[in-house]
Amino acid sequence: MADQSIKFKSIGPQNFVLPCPIFLVGTYSHSKSEKQESTGEDLRKPNIMAAAWATLCSAQPPAMLVAIRQARHTHKSILEHKAFTINIPDTSLLAEVDYAGIFSGEHEDKIAQCGLHAETGEHVDAPYIKECPVVLEMKLMQHHDVGTHTLFIGEIMDVKIKESCLDEAGMPNPTIMDIACYIPLLREYWGLGSFKAKAFGVGKTIASQKIK
Ligand SMILES: Cc1cc2nc3c(=O)[nH]c(=O)nc-3n(C[C@H](O)[C@H](O)[C@H](O)COP(=O)(O)O)c2cc1C
Repeated sequence: MADQSIKFKSIGPQNFVLPCPIFLVGTYSHSKSEKQESTGEDLRKPNIMAAAWATLCSAQPPAMLVAIRQARHTHKSILEHKAFTINIPDTSLLAEVDYAGIFSGEHEDKIAQCGLHAETGEHVDAPYIKECPVVLEMKLMQHHDVGTHTLFIGEIMDVKIKESCLDEAGMPNPTIMDIACYIPLLREYWGLGSFKAKAFGVGKTIASQKIK
């Protein structure tokens, strides 16, 4: 019989899962005009926005989606360039992330304001942020409107990890990376915590108990 002392409190339909990631979505704001094409001048403006509603969504091709409200400047930029980057910040960049989530690139140069440095993507027409330990270059595959947001599904064209964040075996080291996450409702940024168990492994201990 179920334990009657376990009680849940309903908080209604809310956008609440724990934890959410926190990413910077990198885009170029404007296309090169014909005049710039002829002079070779590049006036594309790199922009970043904070995004917590994002996840992996396909193994082959490797892909992820990010949900972006139609009103965001970034929304227009992704449609225009068919590309974006996902920049994964560490906890030292949380003020910059928050700034990129409060202010719009329509009115200001958030990257310069935050003292960050943008580099042109190698595979897509979008800038990435050099200060972030992990960067994904995304080519827009599909987009779908869902209520207030558009799901931008991008193919992952490349993942870059700072060499200083790799262990001796060349694998990403979560402790060195010091990645942040976001807690909705509380509106707080948290660190990742510590290693607990091996995935695709710890569950097998239950299977072996069943056999006994
Ligand atoms: C913690 C945090 C998470 C956010 N997550 C999202 C998100 O997933 N999708 C979205 O459309 N806006 C999100 N925002 C809001 C945008 O980052 C914000 O509106 C930003 O100013 C848009 O910038 P832009 O107009 O330059 O594109 C988030 C903001 C914060 C602070």
